[in-house]
Order: sequence, then C-alpha cells, then structure tokens
Amino acid sequence: MSRSPVGRETERVDGRLKVTGAAEYSGDYRAAGLAHAHLVTSTIARGTVTAIDTAAALASPGVLRVYAAPDPRLDLHPITGPLAGFVENYVPLHDAEVRFHGQAIAMVVAESPEQARDAAARVTATYDVRSPRTSIADEPRVPAGPTISGAPSSLTVLAPGVGSIDAALAAGDVVVETECHQHMQHHVGMEPHAVLAVWEGDRVTVHAGAQIPAAYALGTAQRLGVRPQNVRLITKYVGGGFGARVILWSDTPLAAAAAREIGRPVRLVLTREQMFTLTGHRPQLTQTVRLGASRDGVLNAVSHRSVSERPTTVAFPMTPAHATTDALYRTPNLHVDAELAVLDIPGSRAMRGPNEAPGSFALETAMDELAVATGVDPVELRLRNYAATSPSTGLPWSSKHLEECYRVGARRFGWSARSATPRSRAEGQWLYGTGMATAIYPAHRRAASVRVRLLDDGTAVVSTGISDLGTGGATMVAISGADALGIPPARVTSEIGDSLLPQGAPAVGSSATHATVPLVVNAARDAIGELKRLAVTDDRSPWHGASAGDLRYERGILHGHGRSMSFGSLLTAIGSPDVTTLAESPGEADPGYVHHSFGAHFCEVRVNRFTGETHVTRFTTVADVGRVINARAARSQLVGGVIFGIGHALLEENPLEPGTGRLASSTLADYLVPVNADVPDIDVHLLGRPDPVLTGPLGDGGEDVGTRSLGARGLGEIGTVGSAAAIGNAVHHATGIRVRDVPITPDKLI
Ligand code: MOS
Repeated sequence: MSRSPVGRETERVDGRLKVTGAAEYSGDYRAAGLAHAHLVTSTIARGTVTAIDTAAALASPGVLRVYAAPDPRLDLHPITGPLAGFVENYVPLHDAEVRFHGQAIAMVVAESPEQARDAAARVTATYDVRSPRTSIADEPRVPAGPTISGAPSSLTVLAPGVGSIDAALAAGDVVVETECHQHMQHHVGMEPHAVLAVWEGDRVTVHAGAQIPAAYALGTAQRLGVRPQNVRLITKYVGGGFGARVILWSDTPLAAAAAREIGRPVRLVLTREQMFTLTGHRPQLTQTVRLGASRDGVLNAVSHRSVSERPTTVAFPMTPAHATTDALYRTPNLHVDAELAVLDIPGSRAMRGPNEAPGSFALETAMDELAVATGVDPVELRLRNYAATSPSTGLPWSSKHLEECYRVGARRFGWSARSATPRSRAEGQWLYGTGMATAIYPAHRRAASVRVRLLDDGTAVVSTGISDLGTGGATMVAISGADALGIPPARVTSEIGDSLLPQGAPAVGSSATHATVPLVVNAARDAIGELKRLAVTDDRSPWHGASAGDLRYERGILHGHGRSMSFGSLLTAIGSPDVTTLAESPGEADPGYVHHSFGAHFCEVRVNRFTGETHVTRFTTVADVGRVINARAARSQLVGGVIFGIGHALLEENPLEPGTGRLASSTLADYLVPVNADVPDIDVHLLGRPDPVLTGPLGDGGEDVGTRSLGARGLGEIGTVGSAAAIGNAVHHATGIRVRDVPITPDKLI
C-alpha cells in the first residue's frame, strides 16, 4: 500500500526535458525543405477588402507565395455539423469580408521567417469600411440561447406562491444589488501559437498545441477537405492552453493549406500581437447580482443576470457567467439569465474558468456586500446559506466538503483575528484588509479511451491522446498507471499528445484527470486478466493448464501454486512481446448526483493610501478536489489559478477602441499579467477526500488492480474561481471602497 505513488510529491515525467530545453514544442520541429509563413491582418473591424497589393511582397527576397483574400488556391472549406461549435464560422482567406480588427487577410510564405515577415509588411490593403459594432452597452441584446457547454442560459425557480423574482427580492429585509463590468481578457500562454504542417502524398502531419487533439485533427481535415484519417496531429508539449487552444483557429488550416499548395513543409508562428486577435479571449461582461435576505443574512432570493458579447465569427456562445450560481447557496427563489450583443470583434472563447471565474466575482462580491449590510461575518454568512443539496435540482453532491474548506482555511489564515470594520488597520502608508470568497467548479465526465500495454521488459506503456498543457497530465497518466499495475512510475511510460493514439479526454473544463484515471484502472485490470489467461493457456508458461483463478497479481508479479514470476519474465518465457488492452467510456456521470469541486479563498491585501497601489500580501486556498494524484502538480495548478485571480482582480483588461474596434493592448508590456513581484507565497491546502461516485467504486485495495488513484476530481480551474472576489473583498475591507469593475486599478481607489 505505502508504495503507491498516488498523492505523493511526484516530479513531472517531462520536467527535466522542459527545463533543459530538450522538449520540442510545435514551433521547434524541423522538416527538410521547410518554408515559413507570416500572416497579414486587417486594419479595420468591419467591411470588405476591395484590393490587396501584393506586388512589393512578391518581389521581396526569398518569397515563394503571397496569398491574399479571397484566395482559392488554399482550397479551405466551411465546417457544418457536430464540429461547427469547434471552429470559427468563416473560412480564413476564403472571402473578402472583414469581420474583426486583426483578422487574417493575407499570408506570405518565404524561405526564412525574417523574409516572410518583411514581405508581409509590404502588403497593403484597401477596404470598403463599415462602422463596427463594438460595445455591449450600445447594441441590441438577444437571449443567449444554447451555450457551448449546454448550461441553461436562463432559469427561474420560485417558491410556491411567489409571483416573480422581483417580488421575492422585495420581500427580503436586506437587498443588495451589485453591478460589475469587465473588459476583454486574454489567455497569454507562454508558448506562441505555432504550427508545422508536413504533407506526404495526401496525408498531413500537423504539429500544433491543441487541447482536444482528436477534434483538432478532425476539424483540420474538414477545413482541408481531406479524409479524417489523412490528418495526424501531434501536440506533445504545450506551453499553456487556458482555453486558447480548445478550438481550431485560422493558423493551422492556413499553414496546412499553404504546405499543400506549394508542396513543401510550412511553419507558421503567430506574433504575440496576432495572438490577441486570432486565438480568442475572455468575453467582455456586465453582470448584475441581486440578493434578498433576512436581517441575519439568510438568503430568500438570488438573481444573476449578465450581458456579454457575441462576436459574429462564433457559432456558439460560451458558458454563461451564472453557470454555478444555481449550485452554490441555498435559496428558495432563484433567477439567472444571460443575454448577448452581436459585435464585430475577434472571436471569444473559453478562458481560465469560463465563465465561472468572472461569474464568481460578481456573486462573491455581492455576498461580501450582504455580509457588510447584515453585519454577519463573511464565513458565517456562507455557512448560514450552505447548500446540502443542489438548489436547482434537489440532487445530492457526489462528494462535498466545502464546510471543511471554510473551517480549515479560516484556521490556516487566522481569520478569527479579523475586525469587522473596514479601514481599521493602517501601517504607515498602507491600509491592510482581509477578504474571502468561495470557489466552485463543475466536474464533467468526458468520453475517453486508454490503452495499457505490458511489455516483456517488465515495463508498461499507458497511451491516451490527451494533451498536457503544462498541467501535469502526462505525469498523472504515469502515476495512475503505476498505481493500477502496482509498479513504480519509473517503469511506466505515458504516451500522450497524438491524434493516432486512443482518443483521450479533452484537456478542457478541468476534466482530463477524472475522465482518464478510471479508464487506466479498467485497462490495467483487463491487462492483468489477459496476463493470467495467457499464463494458464500458453504451453510455455509454468502455469499451463492451471486455473486463472488460482493466480494472484501483486506489484507486477504473478503468484500461484508456489511460484512467482514477473509479468516481464512471463511474457519473455511465452515469447509474447506484450499484452495490450483498451478501455473506453462515453463519459457519462451518475445522473443521481451533482458533481462539483469546491474551495475557499482567504486573502490579505495592502493598499497604499496615497497612490492606491494594491498588493496581495497573503493568500490561503483550501480546496476539495477529491483524491489528489500528484501533490506537487495539484498544488501548482491551484497556485496558478490564484495567480490568474490576482491578474483578474488587479491587472488584466483589454478595452476596445469604440470607433475602430481595435484592441488597446497587443503586447505583454501593455497587457499586464502578474509577475513574481505581484505574487506572495500562496498557501494551498488540498483536503484530499476521494469522491466515491464520480470516478466509480474506490475499492478496498484488496483486488489485483490498484484503485487508490480513483476518486479524483478536476482542479485545473477552481483556483481561479472566486480568487479575484476574495481580493476585491479584501480591498474593500482595507479601504472601505467597493470596486465592482475589474481590474481594481489605483485610479479607482483614490
Ligand atoms: Mo479551459 S478555459 O476549460 O480550456
């Protein structure tokens, strides 16, 4: 038992390769005869390209091609059907329409990246310009309708005899109304979007960072008009996803189409500026939360409404901001709805807890305002409204230990020392304050498949086409494989990041771990069963003719009839190179339960009373994310989530210029994300209580196959849910100023 690697501090299987620079990211791969592409982007937000002058570019040194919209040579196709929500709804360089500022309108391919970039700068376009729609405040609103996640865009639950949510709110002793605004935010993964496309005959191998390799390969095939089996996607190392690599943008189809047309491998690397408009962003958002409660803070009504953007290029809107508002607090009356305004702006997509993270900012800010209005301590207020069953469905949770998160977090942080009075602690120029907030994130099951191979050299290979975005996915596969097979992780090779592998769980929505682990366990169990079958049926085996039921597998060794033999030795003895099994699941969760991860954030800030500068000085997060597979990677994910929260609360925004639809920021010098100086030591504690339902039976450890890796739930995004609100609430406690529009910049505090 004690040998299981589950829950320990495990170094990443690819950690050394990454820190030594040996890991090859998409832009690092080489190919003979490589040509380099560079995109030219539109300088208007809405209109039509009337002419593109490519003469100067074509005359530039090393230039092989200049493609200018509309360019039929690229032969790219629209995508309809199931994948329509997975792509933009226009075909790149296929027509003369400009749909947003920064859209690709031309592409240069040259012998070197420098030649391609220089020639791209010589391409000029003229336009028929139309006035872009750029503001959610000014455009007509439409109901959000079906969302990409299937979450309802509107829901009303009223207690018997209550006529409307407004009537329920009016009946409260205390009513709080919180309106929050935020501009667009960006993923800004460290690795730029890069793609290498290499054709061999009518087959193409694409190297690109992708969160859902199978869908990415399929979408690429449909864009190119080739059969699905003719596209192979390799996405082995990825320098950050955060939602920006979920869908298929224009870069991969363009690079692959150019490679096909010129008959040479093509690499395309987006510039940082191009990533701001061509790889998605978090939508701008206005939210209104209204809470009605008794004098002692017991909720009678919760209303959460939002208005967001609907870029014209997006087929399905994202998850609404209220996605978890119907699951967090007990209330007899609930109303949520989401509306959208159609805008001529770059496509928005999933980003770091979409859109639970911004949604939680509004709800948890409102809860803090309710705490102030009622004089009830913020932790106590949340306990008074604790939901034992789901408020919208009445179903129980598969596992919920949120109360323990509050209790443990308050103790670790020293919450009880807090004075209720805002602006009550000053040291020199600095005002100190503390705040807290709740985190909740859904745990969706996803379809996945895992292959386990036991090899005659005594090692095992666990294969699944997931993508490791830097999250530790490859290590998770090795740990759960080692646990299930009872062998050290060093004897397990994890094979991921290739669309030719058994289809892996999508690396989205914090679900890859809990979708993958049960299948590792199942495939390992089947492999052990197959090993036993070979042991009793193969005449070269010492157990030939025995009954499989007489054999016991433990820690890589078969025992029975007074003999023991490792699986490697047995396979060698019988001349069989391997035993291979495949486990698949459609990813259905038990419908009798609701599934979420939970957490509680506690934060201290100091605000300079003269400059309004805010620093986060202490942060404690306690999370209930089921069983922990790798303590080090898990803590790192939570720390990263809290750092996103710091960015959300204090730094990140990208306003659009109203007349032009151009983004204000296009570099990491003007789009600010937290740096080390912005981040204190972050205290993360994971409760580590296995979820007994989500991933299937936990077992008692008595069976051949290890099951200690079961009971995990996703943890990639929960750190970023609620953390920004905890900071905002601490800023209010420090200063007495409530800032509802993020980021909380100094100008809003003086
Ligand atoms: Mo994630 S933002 O669900 O890719």
